[in-house]
Amino acid sequence: MASSAPALVTDPRSIFAEEVRRDLALSPRQIQSKYLYDALGSSLFETICRLPWYKITRAERELLERRAREIVAALPGRIAFVELGGGNGEKLGILLEEFVRRGRRARRANVHLIDISEAALEQSEQRLSRWEHVSVVGHRATYEEGLREAARRRPEGERWLVLFLGSNIGNFDPPAAQDFLRQIRAALQPGDFLLLGADLVKPAEELALAYDDPLGVTAAFNLNLLVRMNAELGADFDLEGWEHRAIWNAEASRVEMRLVSRRPQTVRIPGADIEVRFRTGEWIWTESSYKFEALGACRMGEASGFRTLTQWIEPEARFALTLFEVTEPER
Ligand code: TRP
Repeated sequence: MASSAPALVTDPRSIFAEEVRRDLALSPRQIQSKYLYDALGSSLFETICRLPWYKITRAERELLERRAREIVAALPGRIAFVELGGGNGEKLGILLEEFVRRGRRARRANVHLIDISEAALEQSEQRLSRWEHVSVVGHRATYEEGLREAARRRPEGERWLVLFLGSNIGNFDPPAAQDFLRQIRAALQPGDFLLLGADLVKPAEELALAYDDPLGVTAAFNLNLLVRMNAELGADFDLEGWEHRAIWNAEASRVEMRLVSRRPQTVRIPGADIEVRFRTGEWIWTESSYKFEALGACRMGEASGFRTLTQWIEPEARFALTLFEVTEPER
């Protein structure tokens, strides 16, 4: 009889199993939002970005198109663009287009794409590899690992522009956001830049539509986590027994994404070696999306050792793009 080899600790599936096991035991129960982005999840998220009610992507793209000249003009000759969680690469493409057009033959750029989603990486690598003077490296990794890997390949004298767009910073709790910006800062050198996208506080009705759209795409995106656990961990989540809910918590300034149990039920997750009982209305927390004040976004960067250079705001969707610079060596 064939015996299967013991799973390696580094096997991504067993990490998933381990984290599901750990986080479903928390109160409230949770699952980390990075697991939303398998192939199906990534493509559902891309669809979300096209929905009329989800304005982040369009607002940010518009700001980038309008400000590309200004941003690129601020960059030195030897530059690397390092994008964290950039999805399909479309936004970075706007800057690269301008960079290539301006620099003609003289300038070259390295590009590092750091993303947890294989599908997103493939797409963006393809999209961004069309320029002769731009060389693209994809890192399928967490932000932290990816930054470390990219730093290891950094040639002397190359400056970096780190892009952290789409208000992905809003998916961290405030202390973790601060911490993460510090981590980015620690990976950088004087003369480097950070471009940070942050979605701003807006009326509750707008947020409700952005995170629980009438077409049900956002619900599908969130519920896909259960589909993924069924497929990868052999779980028996019955999709009929669950619903997506997005709750605006004004006090904490965040939208809370939940998967709510419609009835009492027991779910078996053999891959994670657990059985979980849910009461009616009990929920799994899958994501928080914090919303910011424009000045708050600047302060957050400054508290992590960056200096604010410029901030642009898209007034209709209420979205801010802030360009920071690294000035002094870290002490
Ligand atoms: N980073 C995105 C955001 O906070 C992710 C997102 C959009 C999301 N819609 C969602 C995550 C619904 C979970 C559920 O805007």
